[in-house]
Amino acid sequence: LGIRLNRICCIGAGYVGGPTMATIALKCPQLEVVIVDMNEDRINRWNSDDLPIYEPGLPEVVKACRGKNLFFSTDVKKGIEESDIIFASVNTPTKTQGVGKGRAADLRYIESVGRTIAQYANRSKIVIEKSTVPIKTAEAIARVLSANETANGGHKNFWILSNPEFLAEGTAMKDLDEPDRVLIGGQEQDAIMVLADIYANWVPRDRILMTNLWSSELSKLVANAMLAQRVSSINSISRLCERTGADVKEVARAIGTDSRIGPKFLNASVGFGGSCFQKDILNLVYICQQFGLDEVASYWQQVVDMNDHQKSAFTGKIIQSLFNTVTKKKIAILGFAFKKDTGDVRETPALMVCDMLMKDGGLVYVYDPKVLIEDALTEFKYHEIEVNTDQFIFSKSPEEACEGAHAIVVLTEWDEFKTYDYKKFYDKMMKPAFLFDGRNMLDHAELEKIGFEVHALGKGT
Ligand code: NAD
Ligand code: UGA
Repeated sequence: LGIRLNRICCIGAGYVGGPTMATIALKCPQLEVVIVDMNEDRINRWNSDDLPIYEPGLPEVVKACRGKNLFFSTDVKKGIEESDIIFASVNTPTKTQGVGKGRAADLRYIESVGRTIAQYANRSKIVIEKSTVPIKTAEAIARVLSANETANGGHKNFWILSNPEFLAEGTAMKDLDEPDRVLIGGQEQDAIMVLADIYANWVPRDRILMTNLWSSELSKLVANAMLAQRVSSINSISRLCERTGADVKEVARAIGTDSRIGPKFLNASVGFGGSCFQKDILNLVYICQQFGLDEVASYWQQVVDMNDHQKSAFTGKIIQSLFNTVTKKKIAILGFAFKKDTGDVRETPALMVCDMLMKDGGLVYVYDPKVLIEDALTEFKYHEIEVNTDQFIFSKSPEEACEGAHAIVVLTEWDEFKTYDYKKFYDKMMKPAFLFDGRNMLDHAELEKIGFEVHALGKGT
């Protein structure tokens, strides 16, 4: 291909770009890795001891590589000029306006990456879609690039690859270290092999899957849709368990031991959250509708609808149990992140739960080991939910959140929540003291012994 293989650049220093590139830098000391982002504040934090994202194991890797073969910069132009292998790891949120509003992916950032590469590329480049994108996005990027291939003087080639990321937040470093698979989609074998050789520095070759571009792009959406579908499926069953005397944990174990079903992603919960599940399913729904596949679209839409139902049913049960009103009642919320081991609150189920409680007049006191109140308020704002800060308070400790509360509501499965002295909390709570376990993670028999009225998910009370 005639490109230089010693340096790579990643555009987008977020939850994916940061950990992924830090891992490449660690595993490939012969490569220089530059991550660029237009967000100066984020880059400054990547260059400090206070990294912009919380991810177990990440600080150690950044520390080991930063300044040696891992660099963070706002100089996008230089990053593009100096690297012939460029990853695009920018955000692809759901469109909030115009055609496809609320469903289609907003591709403005990925398109702007294409245009920026076209503007600054001085030689031929391999351009890699790391972001999750709708099927056929590579075609759009290729068009933007090829329409500009003589810009900057001289003809250039651009090879586009799809290399979706499957890491999960909270376990990103382990997922990157030992991926189930790496997926590379492309049209030119030589370009595919350049990327495969980078991963082969630490990933066994038989786990590096190669497909055509469109299979790769679509597989990413389908993987997330299938995972989310399992959560919605078990959550739907949790509702039935609550009416019938079955226990959803027992049902999950009973079905999960069937090797064809498997045990993972069968934990009933208050609902799935995170920046991607809902966005990617809605995107899949939109794509199906575009092709006139309305039945297929509505099949997948149900996964999101069930998730919304789960969040509101869970909160409805809290209000109903507290004698049909939470007005002026203090409610302790344990956990605001969308899952444990992350400070990320994007699309967290806590959003809808707290909103419903506050609309009913409740005083919500949140304790989360990693979430910042500013991030929670930003997420409310993004969803156009007005928050009265007299009703939404972040507590410094779980004790503070629980003191004088009518109920404890567990929304995130942080390990430390299992270690608390709930007797101490109970003694300082209003009575009857309620506990709603939105993650089914605590010892309910023990809590009942203390005196709590416990409401587990998927278990009749
Ligand atoms: P993010 O919002 O954390 O990071 C994206 C970054 O890109 C931001 O810092 C933003 O400033 C930067 N950016 C946007 N446009 C830019 C431009 N033109 N030039 C320079 N910088 C630009 O997003 P994320 O969570 O890292 O997700 C990135 C992509 O990866 C998305 O498509 C997402 O669906 C996908 N993904 C995310 C996860 C996850 O766990 N978060 C996992 C797998 C895949
Ligand atoms: C998910 C996928 O697992 C990743 O493979 C994918 O790369 C990523 O989305 C993405 O594309 O962004 P993530 O959202 O970080 O990763 O976290 P998950 O572990 O998948 O959890 C998602 C949500 O489902 C969380 O709210 C979690 O609490 C919930 N969940 C998960 C359940 O309620 N029950 C389960 O059994 C599993």
